[in-house]
Amino acid sequence: MRRIHYISEFADSLSPEDIESITRVSEANNARDGITGMLMASGQLFFQLIEGPDEAVDALYERILVDQRHKNVMVLGDERGDLQRQCPDWAMRKVDLSLDAAVRSEPLKVILEASAAQFRILRNLVSTLERAMWRQLIEAEAEELDRFVKEQVDQSGSQPPGARD
Ligand SMILES: Cc1cc2nc3c(=O)[nH]c(=O)nc-3n(C[C@H](O)[C@H](O)[C@H](O)COP(=O)(O)O)c2cc1C
Repeated sequence: MRRIHYISEFADSLSPEDIESITRVSEANNARDGITGMLMASGQLFFQLIEGPDEAVDALYERILVDQRHKNVMVLGDERGDLQRQCPDWAMRKVDLSLDAAVRSEPLKVILEASAAQFRILRNLVSTLERAMWRQLIEAEAEELDRFVKEQVDQSGSQPPGARD
């Protein structure tokens, strides 16, 4: 399974008919390909969630990336593995902003969850980088200390300090 959430901007020329046509084609294709998800169009932005078998989502995402009806696609989440579908019943649900608040808030919840997941990934990345930096620093210090001890030993031509009785 692969699941992608992204946002993108409407192309300048996008019309309401384009959005209808995207939804219609998506419903048919996604039902055929075992893909589920949702599409929200609001304020010049698309928000979409697509999920399904790896190869089907790979192929769809490639088509979506080159689609001229939108631009500046920004991925909010990209997961693979043993995932539970978030929208098991929707081949491609278009979220209509005129519907009641509970329905409207669904995509927002998904966006927030995706952003929170991204935030967690970034935080892990930063802490991994920090750990690596510390390790490098400590290794450099240890090398420096080693060198210092060796110099002392070479200079005195005897045992390292503290090694004598
Ligand atoms: C914002 C956006 C979302 C889209 N979502 C889907 C989708 O979920 N499924 C789909 O088949 N096509 C989707 N499309 C359309 C594809 O980019 C592409 O035009 C379409 O899959 C081609 O289908 P066809 O080969 O049956 O003509 C989307 C396009 C846009 C701009």
